[in-house]
Amino acid sequence: MKPKRAKIILGVETSCDDTGIALLKVSENKTGANFEVLANEISSQIKLHRQYGGVFPAMAKREHAKNIVPLFIVALKKAKLLKPLKKKTVRSPITDKKLQKILEREPEILEALRDFLDTYEKPEIDKIIVTTGPGLEPTLWVGINFARALGFIFDLPIVPANHMEGHIVSFLIPPKTLKFKIHAEKLPFPLLALLVSGGHTELVIAKGIGKYTLLGATRDDASGEAFDKIARMLDLPYPGGPEISKLAEKSRQDKDSLNKFPISLPRPMIKSPDFDFSFSGLKTAVLYLLRDMQEKPTEDQKIVIAREAEDAIVDVLVSKTIRAIQTYKVKTIVVGGGVAANKHLRNELARATKKLGQKIDLYFPTQSLSRDNALMIALAGYLKHQHTKKIFRAFKAEGDLKL
Ligand code: KG4
Ligand code: ZN
Repeated sequence: MKPKRAKIILGVETSCDDTGIALLKVSENKTGANFEVLANEISSQIKLHRQYGGVFPAMAKREHAKNIVPLFIVALKKAKLLKPLKKKTVRSPITDKKLQKILEREPEILEALRDFLDTYEKPEIDKIIVTTGPGLEPTLWVGINFARALGFIFDLPIVPANHMEGHIVSFLIPPKTLKFKIHAEKLPFPLLALLVSGGHTELVIAKGIGKYTLLGATRDDASGEAFDKIARMLDLPYPGGPEISKLAEKSRQDKDSLNKFPISLPRPMIKSPDFDFSFSGLKTAVLYLLRDMQEKPTEDQKIVIAREAEDAIVDVLVSKTIRAIQTYKVKTIVVGGGVAANKHLRNELARATKKLGQKIDLYFPTQSLSRDNALMIALAGYLKHQHTKKIFRAFKAEGDLKL
């Protein structure tokens, strides 16, 4: 078989508060696919949302619309795919009614694309992969409409990707190298995925790409949401996960801290026979604890609350994951989503799987790929649809898209 020409995939992610643009080069051969990360850019809205203590969808949507074309240009430049126009020509498609219709709700993107076309050549891209859900619908639409507009202007196929599938496959991207290889038949299926993010907490059995069975999910708050809400009660900035984690670590370093302020928080549903989760009771327990204290917690008390909250969340996640391993006899565990960056979760899950006395392969994404990014989206969409001839025409943001 003659090796095929390398293709360049554009990944687009706007499901929450991070705008992500990735350019991934793929060359397929008999033994699998070779990937090269040409660019993986993220424009974070944390600073903006921090002022309000959380993400407001309408505000996040505006930020995505403002940032996405400039970020696309940065990514193209990094990938050495940004070529200035040789001679100025008046372009016809940009005045096309269809394009105006696609971008009727994102006039900033239309304007920025107009400038782009007046300045640069058609970039060497072969396919666009865009997150269509789950996530915040107003923000998902920005990515989708940007992808549709580019697809229309440059006549490129567009493929939808599921954000959670992105979190599942992100462990396949190795750290510290831009080049990696994946042999689809050799992927470690079946695997158990623990998906922990700001919007999701799920245990999923994956028998292959696209072959998922949901074992359980949160009935109320997601684990990341619990970190964020508890952090807010402690006057810590958004996003709360890393902040709680920092304080919790201080308490672990200070052996005496717990004795000075002995508290205990619930581990909701830790003993329930299913694989569901619930974190809203934990949040309420912290609320009551703070309410019953006469004064605002001191720094010494805050570190203990943070530690107890992190311990409680991690205990539940680890305990349910271990039980799922035993029940479904899986040997590979993959953790994905923003909370996968949590060091305590990484350590405790490693310790608990070791204690099982059988060989378990435990994979986490690299720290930087735990959070939302477009590289995982490009990879998820590629792996899912590499053999499909289907041409996707209709795109819709689906806030609660299932795996
Ligand atoms: O996957 P992600 O970036 O966005 C969503 O898809 O939701 O996850 C964001 C969530 C936030 O709730 C954030 O507080 C949490 O991940 N997070 C962490 C850590 N880093 C981010 N939670 C605990 N420990 C961390 N180190
Ligand atoms: Zn996510």
